[in-house]
Amino acid sequence: MGQAEAMDRMYRFTRHVYDLSRKYYLLGRDKLIDRMELRKAGHTLPDGSQTAQADRVLEIGCGTARNLIVLAQKRPGFPLYGLDASEAMLETAAKSVDKVGLASTITLRPCLAEDLTAKGTFGLDEPFDVIFFSYSLSMIPTWSQALEVALANLKPGRKFYIVDFCDQADLPRWFSRFLKFWLSKFHVFYRPEMLEYIQQMHRDGKGKLEIEYLYGRYAYIASFEKPAA
Ligand SMILES: C[S@@+](CC[C@H](N)C(=O)[O-])C[C@H]1O[C@@H](n2cnc3c(N)ncnc32)[C@H](O)[C@@H]1O
Repeated sequence: MGQAEAMDRMYRFTRHVYDLSRKYYLLGRDKLIDRMELRKAGHTLPDGSQTAQADRVLEIGCGTARNLIVLAQKRPGFPLYGLDASEAMLETAAKSVDKVGLASTITLRPCLAEDLTAKGTFGLDEPFDVIFFSYSLSMIPTWSQALEVALANLKPGRKFYIVDFCDQADLPRWFSRFLKFWLSKFHVFYRPEMLEYIQQMHRDGKGKLEIEYLYGRYAYIASFEKPAA
């Protein structure tokens, strides 16, 4: 079964209670939304020039669009884009976006993370200014491709962000074991090799990585800045 079908099956019913139930364990999402570096039109750059347009922001694996809606409400003025493997999730997302009157701000498209192109997926002539993954990489079997594709679709000198589960190293062992067992029931896997992969991307000069560990290493927020052109 392909990933799109697997995700549709998993979320067919749970998408209706998704936002309420995930509120309690997808921690750090609002922190990331608050911290993302976003530039409005007219933002002054270090060389004295000014940006012509507001940042275009993409969420990869946007699910119900919960994050995009919070972002649009807390930090208005940015064109937002979301892609997801699951058309069922996107149907719920589109309804939520409509309900809060954000249909002209948030563009949603069905797409696998590894197939993203700014032009092909969204009809854009330029790469994105900011990209983020919120608890999606831990569900994406092709996560390394997803990371490389995100980097390829990002403007030089800008950042992609990740918020996701970490190793819970500073929390009780029983809790960590239980969490990993429970998450595996939802196709979610903590992959230590993922952070190692991003650290290697940093060492390879593909960008500059910064990581902040949250809540006893329950989760982490990473930012990865693509080198300037
Ligand atoms: C745990 S949910 C997180 C949703 C949202 N980002 C949030 O923070 O509430 C993960 C999402 O990733 C999507 N997903 C899984 N594999 C994917 C892939 N290969 N490409 C794009 N999206 C994918 C799932 O359909 C699901 O909506």
